[in-house]
Amino acid sequence: MLNVSNISKEFKSGLFGRTHTLAVNNVSFSIKAGQTLGLVGMSGSGKSTLGRLALKLIPCDTGRIIFNGIEISHYTMKQMKKLRKEMQILFQNPESSLNPRMTIGKSLEEPYRFHDIGDKEYLDEQIEEQLQFVGLGTELLNRRPYQLSGGQLQRVCIARLLLLRPKLLVLDEPTSMLDVSVQAQVIEVLKNAQKKQGISYLFISHDLDVIKACSDEIAVMYKGRIIEQQTAEDLYKQPKEEYTKQLLDTFLNF
Ligand SMILES: Nc1ncnc2c1ncn2[C@@H]1O[C@H](COP(=O)(O)OP(=O)(O)OP(=O)(O)O)[C@@H](O)[C@H]1O
Ligand SMILES: [Mg+2]
Repeated sequence: MLNVSNISKEFKSGLFGRTHTLAVNNVSFSIKAGQTLGLVGMSGSGKSTLGRLALKLIPCDTGRIIFNGIEISHYTMKQMKKLRKEMQILFQNPESSLNPRMTIGKSLEEPYRFHDIGDKEYLDEQIEEQLQFVGLGTELLNRRPYQLSGGQLQRVCIARLLLLRPKLLVLDEPTSMLDVSVQAQVIEVLKNAQKKQGISYLFISHDLDVIKACSDEIAVMYKGRIIEQQTAEDLYKQPKEEYTKQLLDTFLNF
């Protein structure tokens, strides 16, 4: 589904752009249809940047991206628009993804209309179905974001993505802002959605338990590089890199 090879990204910031940060350094990975690649690593290692590069939300300096058999490395934003509904991102803070002035109903409709997917009647049907799928009811449609809990808001964001029938989702710390009690439920919704729609996930998380429970393979990122990638089971049993061992130890002793 997704094949990324040798991508890099350098940011220039600070006074006159003198500070150069090589956020992603020659990274390659692939994700099969309906599978999850977990991405772990410490803060600042380049996980979010890699996720955005893979979706072409920001341009790469080097490398190739092949999505569903099509090379999109050199696609313009206009060319990407056709594919955008299939390649989406779920952020950690659902509030920032929803317009505070819009009702939940309007927020759900917006991307669907933008991508011109179907008529109003079909949309209403789909909204009801997806809300139900994520464990919410249509009574929320007339409310605004501040009237919902964090868990409910993240479910709304998930429903909104599912309406687009995406093929690839980058999940960037999707549960880290949520109460522990609702984290597991949201993860369950994401897993069920993957099963139902056959979506591929790039799952970024600091929570190694979540990553282990969700991922087919796990990639470990360190200073802009993927330093090792193994099946979830093997990585926990036999980490190859010293850094991975430390990461696992720190988490287990936490
Ligand atoms: N727009 C930007 N401009 C300049 N530097 C940036 C930009 N975005 C990210 N960086 C830098 O690139 C590096 C990687 O950042 P990134 O956000 O990808 O890390 P991360 O692994 O997602 O971290 P976290 O776990 O804290 O979310 C960091 O050094 C960060 O400061
Ligand atoms: Mg990040």
